[in-house]
Amino acid sequence: MKPLIVANWKCNPTTLDEAREILNGVKEGMRDIEKVEVIICPPFLYLPYWVEFFTKKEQKIKLGAQDCFWAENGAFTGEISPKQLLNFGCEYVIIGHSERRKYLGETDEMINKKIKSALKVKLKPILCIGETEDEKKQGKTFKILKNQIQKALINLSTYQIANLILAYEPLWAIGTGKPCQSSEAKKTLLFLRKFLKKNQILYGGSVNSKNAVNYLNEAGFDGLLVGGASLNPKEFVKIVKNVSRS
Ligand code: PGA
Repeated sequence: MKPLIVANWKCNPTTLDEAREILNGVKEGMRDIEKVEVIICPPFLYLPYWVEFFTKKEQKIKLGAQDCFWAENGAFTGEISPKQLLNFGCEYVIIGHSERRKYLGETDEMINKKIKSALKVKLKPILCIGETEDEKKQGKTFKILKNQIQKALINLSTYQIANLILAYEPLWAIGTGKPCQSSEAKKTLLFLRKFLKKNQILYGGSVNSKNAVNYLNEAGFDGLLVGGASLNPKEFVKIVKNVSRS
């Protein structure tokens, strides 16, 4: 399976012109890259413009969303359903990102519902889990991760679970410029493999072009979830190129 690199733009950029600029840069830089699967997850607002950029033939870069709601449609002000995402060409959806858990009060129960509804329409969920700095200091990392996985996957069949991607993102490494050491991340990955033996498992948290390859080659992850660095097309393409050469 090809390594997977997911760009999480979060609430960026502010204008469509800037979004176009990033996409153009990535598209240009990705021309000769075949060995890596790339998914870009822009804010919802930019999803309709995707079609302008990538014809079906050149759709090396796939589209994902950063969240979804659990109902198919109805009176849920402000929400976007998995089916709506599918109709705009999304194939993936990030679910349970730590920023949503922290700022939007997203619970494990909500995350479980979102995963189920995404899978129902064949959107591939990228489930995010991770421990805080305090939890890590208290030696609770594995307990927290196990709990997050078990609650997110309640009542899912083996077949459903097989269609899910996991992203391990230690909260203390997200946007801090202090990435998790690959040796430490490797230990966590081995623990996570006990629960999800065959799924793709990604690392996220201050990934850049210098450390990207280590998470795959040294730690054994199947890919990366990239936040800040994905907004700089040159840096993002460098990450992808380094991974494709490794
Ligand atoms: P970062 O974010 O790469 O800016 O640390 C990663 C993420 O939150 O997905």
